[in-house]
Amino acid sequence: MDDVRTQVAIIGAGPAGMLLSHLLAAEGVESVVVEARTEEYVGSRIRAGILEQSSVDLLRSADLGDRLAREGDQHRGIYLQWPEERHHLDFVDLTGRSVWVYGQTEVQKDLVAARAADGQEVHYGVSDTALHDLESDSPSVTFVSASGSPTRVSASVVVGCDGSFGPSRSSVPDAVRQSWEKVYPYSWLGILADVAPSTDELIYAWHPDGFAMHSMRSATVSRLYLQVPHDTDIDDWSDDRIWSALATRLGDGQDGWSLTPGPVTEKSVLPMRSFVQTPMRHGRLFLAGDAAHIVPPTGAKGLNLAVADVGLLAPALVDLLRRDDARLADAYSDAALRRVWRCTHFSWWMTTMLHTSGDDFDQQLQLSQLRWVATSEAGATGLAENYAGLPIGF
Ligand code: FAD
Ligand code: DHB
Repeated sequence: MDDVRTQVAIIGAGPAGMLLSHLLAAEGVESVVVEARTEEYVGSRIRAGILEQSSVDLLRSADLGDRLAREGDQHRGIYLQWPEERHHLDFVDLTGRSVWVYGQTEVQKDLVAARAADGQEVHYGVSDTALHDLESDSPSVTFVSASGSPTRVSASVVVGCDGSFGPSRSSVPDAVRQSWEKVYPYSWLGILADVAPSTDELIYAWHPDGFAMHSMRSATVSRLYLQVPHDTDIDDWSDDRIWSALATRLGDGQDGWSLTPGPVTEKSVLPMRSFVQTPMRHGRLFLAGDAAHIVPPTGAKGLNLAVADVGLLAPALVDLLRRDDARLADAYSDAALRRVWRCTHFSWWMTTMLHTSGDDFDQQLQLSQLRWVATSEAGATGLAENYAGLPIGF
């Protein structure tokens, strides 16, 4: 068995794990990251696209904001629409905060580059990851390296940043952990297309056929989503069928607006669920990001929540390991969960307001709710405050 010794063993090299290693290193705390997939695979997964204000503030303060400033696109708000009506919600006017279009792939690239420049040890392509002795002062993580060597990382703290399918979450004993889950009866079909966006800011559209959204990645790349049934087979959706459904649901032809189709470069179906596991700390194990909670994507919160968790956890671990001060570490789970439940509610609310369920009564309530949010300053401010993001530590 190869033996490695470090202060913090981090499982998962997604945004949560890589940002944590970066913030810890900046304060002189050493970590080792282990990742089941290859670096290329992790870097090319098409996922989130929107950064809220507090995520941008944190990335900037961690010297990760240069490319974001050059290539990210700051948006003042979103369009909310339903048939015949489109309303712009201006988050800056409503709350003084805004959001940025900057894909998770780009955040990941920036993190990987910064960690590589700093000589961070990341073990990609590992298998059989297992967590040990989490209730002791000397926990460890074992795995088989990409070259087949059994390896043990001994640390003072283990952090599970291993997403929705990793082993960390279930390493908390059954008697201690509690979880809540809601599975929604629909999925998203998402496409990436090589075509200039047909809108300046994101469009969230309610339609009797189902929700649709127009997002983007750059001036030449569009990202669009359609609500589809839960068990949808992607092969049933040709590119023509996708563009035609998007055109209908997004209101092509209304008030002179049109949707420009283009070559589809990626398409996938994403099931939707909400999940929270508590506590986010047990003994010397801490959980961050999707390892502890999953939100449906409608409120654009998944990546932002991962960043917010790490924004709380990094200073807590620095205090614990460098100053032997456990106060922030002891407070981490409760502090993180306040935001997690707020974002869980917001994501559920956006999802159930915008996706059709086939129930006529629900449909009338959705339209009433949308009208209130789009036309009342109080309603719009509630959406804006949650979407543009509460401050870290809320
Ligand atoms: P991840 O990014 O999932 O990283 C976890 C890492 O742990 C992975 O690299 C994984 O390979 C690794 N890992 C897992 N098991 C092991 C193991 N046994 N050993 C070692 N490593 C392991 N959010 C939005 O806000 N908007 C979106 O549009 C959006 N779209 C999404 C689409 C998809 C298909 C998915 C899955 C998620 C999407 N999300 C979206 C959510 C967002 O991407 C996540 O919230 C975000 O990636 C969370 O970051 P993380 O670092 O916590 O987890
Ligand atoms: C994107 C995804 C979301 O879930 C969302 O609410 C906004 C944008 C995106 O992928 O661009």
